[in-house]
Amino acid sequence: MELRLALGLALLCSALQAAPAGPQRPRSAVGQFWHVSDLHLDPTYHITPDRTKVCASSKGVNASNPGPFGDFLCDSPYQLILSAFAFMNDSKEQVSFMIWTGDSPPHVPINELSTKLVISIIGNLSSTIRNFFPDLQVFPALGNHDYWPQDQLPVTTSEVYNAVADFWKPWLNDEAISTFRKGGFYTQLFESSNSHQPLRIISLNTNLYYSPNKVTVNITDPANQFAWLEDILETSSQKQEKVYIIGHVPVGYLPYARNTTAIREYYNERLVKIFRKYSSVIAGQFFGHTHRDSIMVLLDEEEKPVNSLFVAPAVTPVKSVLQTESNNPGVRLYQYDLFDYSLLDLWQFYLDLRDANKKNESNWKLEYILTKTYGIEDLKPESLYEMAKQLSMPHSTLFEQYYSNYIVSYNKTILCEEGCKTCQICAIQYLDSSSYTDCINREAMWR
Ligand SMILES: *[C@@H]1O[C@H](CO)[C@@H](O)[C@H](O)[C@H]1NC(C)=O
Ligand SMILES: *[C@@H]1O[C@H](CO)[C@@H](O)[C@H](O)[C@H]1NC(C)=O
Ligand SMILES: *[C@@H]1O[C@H](CO)[C@@H](O)[C@H](O)[C@H]1NC(C)=O
Ligand SMILES: *[C@@H]1O[C@H](CO)[C@@H](O)[C@H](O)[C@H]1NC(C)=O
Ligand SMILES: *[C@@H]1O[C@H](CO)[C@@H](O)[C@H](O)[C@H]1NC(C)=O
Ligand SMILES: *[C@@H]1O[C@H](CO)[C@@H](O)[C@H](O)[C@H]1NC(C)=O
Ligand SMILES: *[C@@H]1O[C@H](CO)[C@@H](O)[C@H](O)[C@H]1NC(C)=O
Ligand SMILES: [Zn+2]
Ligand SMILES: [Zn+2]
Repeated sequence: MELRLALGLALLCSALQAAPAGPQRPRSAVGQFWHVSDLHLDPTYHITPDRTKVCASSKGVNASNPGPFGDFLCDSPYQLILSAFAFMNDSKEQVSFMIWTGDSPPHVPINELSTKLVISIIGNLSSTIRNFFPDLQVFPALGNHDYWPQDQLPVTTSEVYNAVADFWKPWLNDEAISTFRKGGFYTQLFESSNSHQPLRIISLNTNLYYSPNKVTVNITDPANQFAWLEDILETSSQKQEKVYIIGHVPVGYLPYARNTTAIREYYNERLVKIFRKYSSVIAGQFFGHTHRDSIMVLLDEEEKPVNSLFVAPAVTPVKSVLQTESNNPGVRLYQYDLFDYSLLDLWQFYLDLRDANKKNESNWKLEYILTKTYGIEDLKPESLYEMAKQLSMPHSTLFEQYYSNYIVSYNKTILCEEGCKTCQICAIQYLDSSSYTDCINREAMWR
């Protein structure tokens, strides 16, 4: 143990010394991984003069300004998805793995999909990713759309779980595949040659807790996932492992809605409790589902920051016709410390969809680097908490930046003030019901 520690430190120090002066290059003691989420392929997308017919996902509404890379009222054309992976491949960033947090099928009425279609779309995107990155370890998670009917993910084995397990066999070991077939979740160790200890990935099926899932109503522990999770985390903590939690539907409160959790409140309270108890083994948590870019900091009962959580924006640019804002397509790169898997930074990349369509060219580029934009040291819980405090200040221009990033530079002139800001600020820092309610009441008094 001691030898390993010394070795790890030596590695870190020498790497620091050898690091080039510019802030642009990651140091050699730094690992990287990609995070993609919410691809939502719409296979019907095509350019045609009748704009109601451009994509099934616009649900009969005229597409707004359709081009080769998509439209804000449509889910992703295949070409948009290809452009995202081509960009990641061409970037030549050295990554040790990729996480993919679910939602492959399009947003269309239930009768326009089927078990067969949903399976075929998940299979398509699994093959697409493997074609681009044949040697890359991918850790996927299921989304609420990765089932038919959508949201109704079951607590026992199913045709979808089995088919998807077969698609994901190249990435997952037998034990992971086995729990996945039963409940749509798994854990697996990631071993890398340049790290002194392995990393444990836990891919949760949080869709079992998602409010619209009728299958799990009144079930205390759907698919026994809580018991399984606690068991894994207990063992991990005894073995002094480090864990990344990945999942689709995030824990905590939705940043855009007042007093609303994405998963049922009872499940949320239970997850928060588990994450607090095992916060010392959990080095990061990664979700999707909201399609927007946001952060959360888990505080313990003494308001000490103990976990960093990230919600990655979607690749799909889709919004409903009633929504005033959407997101540009995004993919992100995380940097972590090879010694203890603590998170150091994230680079958010995006495609300016209007510009790409206008030029018929997918010019994916860097949107922001988190530590640079918010002036923090790294992505550890203490640093994110410091950032949250900055964002909470009245008239914070950093918060304006945060909101622009939240919608992936969709529209720089849209502002989030008053009630909008209150929801964002409370959702970032308070993940359980009582502290969230205190925050809302405090902010309301203040304004
Ligand atoms: C779509 O646009 C066309 C042409 O502007 C218009 O005639 C039609 O009413 C629109 N359809 C819908 C559903 O809005
Ligand atoms: C995935 O679907 C797209 C669009 O329908 C199709 O063009 C492509 O060939 C499919 N790719 C794979 C690997 O199945
Ligand atoms: C990925 O990039 C390499 C060059 O670095 C290229 O040879 C390969 O064809 C690319 N993969 C795909 C699927 O485009
Ligand atoms: C859930 O429990 C409530 C309260 O006991 C009951 O009214 C309701 O019918 C139950 N729902 C289902 C789907 O079992
Ligand atoms: C867009 O570019 C592709 C090649 O990258 C070309 O095949 C296509 O015709 C172009 N479309 C338009 C509308 O110019
Ligand atoms: C951006 O938002 C402003 C204010 O809400 C609106 O007037 C403008 O049309 C929007 N721009 C685009 C390109 O959607
Ligand atoms: C949020 O909802 C819960 C019940 O679900 C309620 O107890 C609490 O008072 C609400 N808080 C606010 C700030 O509205
Ligand atoms: Zn989604
Ligand atoms: Zn979702």
